[in-house]
Amino acid sequence: MFKFYGAKHRLAALYPVPTRSVIIEPFAGAAGYAVHWRNAADRVILVEKDERVVELWQRLLAMPVDELLELPTPEAGERSSDLLVAFAAGRTTRDTPKTFTVTSRMAERFNPMRRRIAESLDECRHFELVHGDYRDAPNIEATWFIDPPYQPTGVGRPDRTRGGRYTHSNANIDYDELNGWTQSRRGQVIACDQEGADWLQWNGAIAAQDTSSRGYREVFWERC
Ligand SMILES: C[S@@+](CC[C@H](N)C(=O)[O-])C[C@H]1O[C@@H](n2cnc3c(N)ncnc32)[C@H](O)[C@@H]1O
Repeated sequence: MFKFYGAKHRLAALYPVPTRSVIIEPFAGAAGYAVHWRNAADRVILVEKDERVVELWQRLLAMPVDELLELPTPEAGERSSDLLVAFAAGRTTRDTPKTFTVTSRMAERFNPMRRRIAESLDECRHFELVHGDYRDAPNIEATWFIDPPYQPTGVGRPDRTRGGRYTHSNANIDYDELNGWTQSRRGQVIACDQEGADWLQWNGAIAAQDTSSRGYREVFWERC
């Protein structure tokens, strides 16, 4: 939906196609997979632990497209408390205090992101948001797209590497438990991480680029 650190919107089309009419993303973020398949799903359930991310979703889902397009364009140097402005530049909630100074990157990237949101927003009005833990998702027959913060792989400082940069980061996830929980979901399951993660027996891979355009491999496990 919106730009989000670790979002899968660019890769969404490369993952297996959903085979169920309900899509559940229990680590929602900006829900790149569900947004990509928004017109194929009768029901979409998003679970997200970060309250500020949930509030942003709720605000957007209640906002007419005209109102979104009329939001003031942020200018570098001014103060803002709009998370959408910070997200335009790839910030996470952990990097973003309630009020922050708009950078030139945020100012440049806000309008293209806003246009992209405006294109899909009306087709996402049926999305249901749950503020909670991934384990709160109902275990119903669905296509599950499970995209947790990347498991630590030992490279770099844990709070600066990919899965460590969220307010609710990989440090709080028990990946053995996540493995059992993932395998017990009903329906089609697609779970992903980066190469080097070992909490599942991956059976697919995708070439990807991170926000700094560095190449890496995304791995996934699918059970139909
Ligand atoms: C890799 S991101 C998901 C990106 C998403 N697939 C997208 O396209 O934007 C992981 C998300 O899981 C959330 N999260 C972390 N721990 C969680 C938990 N225990 N339950 C639910 N969500 C959690 C983080 O706040 C973050 O938004």
